[in-house]
Amino acid sequence: TKYTITVEPVGREVQCDEDQTILDACLRAGVWLPHSCTHGTCATCKVDKLDGEVDLGEASTFALMDFERDEGKLLTCCAKPREDVTIEADLDVDEDMEVFPVEDYTGTVVVLEDIAQDTKRLVVELDREIGFNAGQYMKFSVPVAEADEPIDRTWSIGSPPGETTRLEFHIRNVPGGRGTDGWVFKSLAKGDEVRMSGPYGRFVLKTGDDKHAILVGGGTGVAPLKSMVRHAFEAGEYEGEITLYAGGRTRAHLYDVEAFRALEDEYDEFTYRPCLSDETPEQVAADGDDPDGYAYGMVTTVIEADHERLIGCRGYLCGPPPMVDAALKTLMSRRLFPRDIFREDFFDES
Ligand code: FES
Repeated sequence: TKYTITVEPVGREVQCDEDQTILDACLRAGVWLPHSCTHGTCATCKVDKLDGEVDLGEASTFALMDFERDEGKLLTCCAKPREDVTIEADLDVDEDMEVFPVEDYTGTVVVLEDIAQDTKRLVVELDREIGFNAGQYMKFSVPVAEADEPIDRTWSIGSPPGETTRLEFHIRNVPGGRGTDGWVFKSLAKGDEVRMSGPYGRFVLKTGDDKHAILVGGGTGVAPLKSMVRHAFEAGEYEGEITLYAGGRTRAHLYDVEAFRALEDEYDEFTYRPCLSDETPEQVAADGDDPDGYAYGMVTTVIEADHERLIGCRGYLCGPPPMVDAALKTLMSRRLFPRDIFREDFFDES
């Protein structure tokens, strides 16, 4: 059964299946609704329901509290219609962001390689072109042996939007995780066919001005930032300075160091700061590496030492939530306004 979703105040109407989320129906119809995680935890997609019955789905109790349910709020990424529904949503798409309707894609694994400890690079050749904004992510359909229905897992795109048929992903293994331990790190192989949908998310480089962009990534949180950096410089899409802080415990936890150094050599406006929290300059030198090629300490410590003030900059933070929270505090302590700080949290899968 299909129901009509009316999105006020613009009055757009979208058809939605009874087993489809309101967000999915809207994104596929090119009606961009605010969202981030797409699985009921971040509350970015919370809207007012003006009319109609819905199934609230798997909205977590902290993202959508009881009193909000009573007030008729819903999370569009979880709610499914039970009759025609009217919602009121803020559709102000950032003007730096292009709206690309979500679509389904099939692709072939062309690269699957180890790039750092417990981390793989996956490159997929798509069956056709895709449009996305640097920083957005895709949702993979993961085949699971024990269940009939595939499960969804999301990974950020690490390649720039100019590469329209080849998408790169950086994937960290989570022990026991069904998408990583049970699939990417277990049975997935070069030549395999994979299915995914996208693009999703609003963690996007704001290309409309030339503010100094401070990018902070922990672990594979570097992926969307790599897309942004390459888009900014290789495609000439950004006028300002960009500094990338990439955090890892040791050199074995960092990846693409040489690629970022090459970009740094090529583009004056780009600074790359690989940060090691568990290694010392002495250890790096003992291995014959140049100790000056790294910064030492947590990314937050390094940023604090590098900058007294960051007024007028923008921050883009991506990685595990504790790192993102810590980096947010650091940037605010250096006088960045919260409205100029954008975050993408990578939650471990279960
Ligand atoms: Fe819906 Fe995060 S809760 S997008």
